[in-house]
Formats: sequence, C-alpha cells, structure tokens
Amino acid sequence: MLILGIETSCDETAVALVHDGWRCVANDVASQVKLHAAFGGVVPETASRAHLRWLLPMIDATMDRCGVTWDDIDAVAVTRGPGLVGALLVGVETAKALAWARRKPLIAVHHVAAHLHSPFVSAADGSYRLITLGGDDDAVTGPGAGIAATETVMAIPAPDGDTLPAPPLRYPYVGLAVSGGHTSLVRVDAPDRMTVMAETLDDAAGEAFDKFAKIIGLGYPGGPLVEATARGGDPARFALPRPKLAGSANGRPGALDFSFSGLKTAAATVLRGLGGPDALAADPALRADLCASFQEAVCETLLRKAAVALALTDTPGAPPTQLAVVGGVACNGRLREAVSRYLPGRTVVFPPPELCTDNAAMIAGLAYHLRGAGGCDLTLDADPGMEFPAVPVAAAAAID
Ligand code: KG4
Ligand code: ZN
Repeated sequence: MLILGIETSCDETAVALVHDGWRCVANDVASQVKLHAAFGGVVPETASRAHLRWLLPMIDATMDRCGVTWDDIDAVAVTRGPGLVGALLVGVETAKALAWARRKPLIAVHHVAAHLHSPFVSAADGSYRLITLGGDDDAVTGPGAGIAATETVMAIPAPDGDTLPAPPLRYPYVGLAVSGGHTSLVRVDAPDRMTVMAETLDDAAGEAFDKFAKIIGLGYPGGPLVEATARGGDPARFALPRPKLAGSANGRPGALDFSFSGLKTAAATVLRGLGGPDALAADPALRADLCASFQEAVCETLLRKAAVALALTDTPGAPPTQLAVVGGVACNGRLREAVSRYLPGRTVVFPPPELCTDNAAMIAGLAYHLRGAGGCDLTLDADPGMEFPAVPVAAAAAID
C-alpha cells in the first residue's frame, strides 16, 4: 500500500511516499529556515504563504522523480495538528482536494504521534537505519551493545521487495518527543494508543535552544548552532539549574512535567554578569563554556525525566522498557552521549536526522496503521491544538 504523506505544520513543506507504513520511497523536505532566520523565529504568515507556493509543485516533482502516478497511490495522509493553524490549513485543504479529486482515502495524522512512530520508518535511501545506544536486547543492538553509539542498518530491502525488517522497538515503549514546539514523554502502547506522561509547562526543549541562541547572539535555528559552539566547551563551567524530579517535588501530580523558562532566565543572568553578547562573542572559549553548560542542563533534564518515565513503564518480569528519542532535538550529539550516563542499561533508539526533523515520511508511516474503511472526509479541518490519540494521565501520581 503506497501512501502519499503531506506535512505543513510549521516551517517545513514536506512530501513523502511510503510503502506499507515503513519503506520510504521518497522523503522530500523544503526547509523555510532561510526565510525565517532574519526574524529569529518562525513567522506564521510567511510560513503559510511558502507552503501555499511550494506544496503542489513539490508533490508533482516527488511523484515524477519516483515514476509514481495517481494510480499507484492508495491513500493521502496529512498532518491535522498540532501546529500553526495557517500552515496546517494549507496541507489539510490540499490533501482534501487531492483525495477527493483522485477518489483516494484521506488519513488525518497527529504530528507528535507521527514523530513517536518515526523509528519504524526506513530512511529515504531505502535502508532502515537507527542509532541505538545502550542495550537490553541484542535483537536491536547486536553484540557490543551498551558502550558506544552504533548506527544499525537493520535491513536494506530490494527496490521492489517488501521484507518487513524486525521492529526496532518493543511495545510498550516510552517516547521522548523533543522539538521546537513539543517536549513530551509518552507511553506508546500501539501506533494508535499513546498516553502522555509529561509535557512542558512553558518552552519546548528546541524552543529553549532557539531562545538561548538568540539571547547570546548566535542566530536561528538555535539547536545546531548551540551544539556546534559548545564543542570543546566545559559543561561544568556555569552552574545552571537542574529539574526537580518526580518524587522530590512533593509528590504532586505532573511532577514529571518539564519547565525550561527558569533555565533560560538563569542563562540570561549569567550572560549579563559576563558583560552581554558582545563580551561573549569576543571570548570564544567563554562562549563555548556557556553553550556547553546550557546544553548539558537541557540534556540532563530530558534524560533524568525519561529515566523516571521508563521506570514507571517497566513491568515486573518483562525486559526493561525501551526509549525512543524523536523530534529535531534528537539530532543533538551531546544528548546521545549523555544516554550512557543517565540511562545505563536501557536501549535508546534515535531515528536518522532526516526522520528526526519535520518530515512527511513519518506522517505516511503512521497513517498506514490508522487507515480505516477509507473515504475522504470533506469536513476535516486543521486542528492546531490537536490532542494525542489517547486520554492523558498524570503519570507522576503513580509514583507516590
Ligand atoms: O522537529 P523539528 O524539526 O520541528 C518542530 O516540530 O518543531 O524541530 C526543530 C527544533 C528546533 O528548535 C531546533 O533548534 C532543534 O529542533 N534542533 C536541535 C538540533 N537540531 C535541531 N536542538 C539541539 N541540537 C541540535 N543538533
Ligand atoms: Zn515536529
């Protein structure tokens, strides 16, 4: 079954073709980063206009390049939410029009649920690559697990083959979704059954990187720039605040939730003490130390909370719960390095970078599992605040 995926929730116009929910035929992304960089962040109206201009030509170009016609496509999948409403609308209305005109089923997909499913999708070259760290089972990591990062090629199917590789994760697993718009810990029981264990109360992790980069004058998008600048820096040079963990936060429900605004304020205070962005720019070693300290605080926060969520999900007698780290911030190399320190003995899976940042392959991939009887619902609307496909629970309550 070949699904055409469309993703326009933020600032990437993305189109993909995915067979049977996992084998990527095409994974094309037109990034708008250059359009937004001058403003230090995504300008919603600019994003919508760019999607409008690029989406249809991209769909044509992707199909032409792959020699795929509408007869070959079995369904159209689109991100319904969450995201920027104007940006989402371009994708949803385009998908509706195409599905209706071509008489194809239309499948609406939750953007973050698709990120959480992204480890199950093969890379665009047809291989099925995962970066796997740690290890509690050799099926995923192979010999030598638990020490260094290994990029695992699970199977390279023949162009027309449909060998389904061994699944990279065992259900239930915990997903840490970290991007510019989201920071969530989610228990994933099935592609259509996910339970939110923690969310951010203020900034998302990627947003924290972006805002910090702006404060110190690095530019946009912040995450990759902070990571590059932090290289060689001392992560212990500046004592920035760490999170309160569930169980030490008076047992209140929601203690697993994230909050990055305090960290951002603390970093801004340190910066002022150092003389501001100009003083920092004049001293590259100092700038590297501040970036490394900030990055370390974010990584430690994410992984220590993930450790609690994993412990909550463990079942006596079953192998340890696995973690999937997904979303743009999952590209961060320090986050991968820190896994062995904060999550010893756990299998942690990172999709390849092109499946971490926004893409439509994950949309088409998850859609395969959500396909119902079919049909094209012309009343489908974008849903900027779309809820997860499950009832959220306050996971931390279970610790007490
Ligand atoms: O998943 P994504 O492409 O879009 C959203 O759904 O938001 O994530 C983009 C975010 C940005 O905030 C960007 O700064 C962050 O991911 N990011 C990184 C890295 N690469 C991208 N953050 C930290 N380190 C990186 N290497
Ligand atoms: Zn995303």
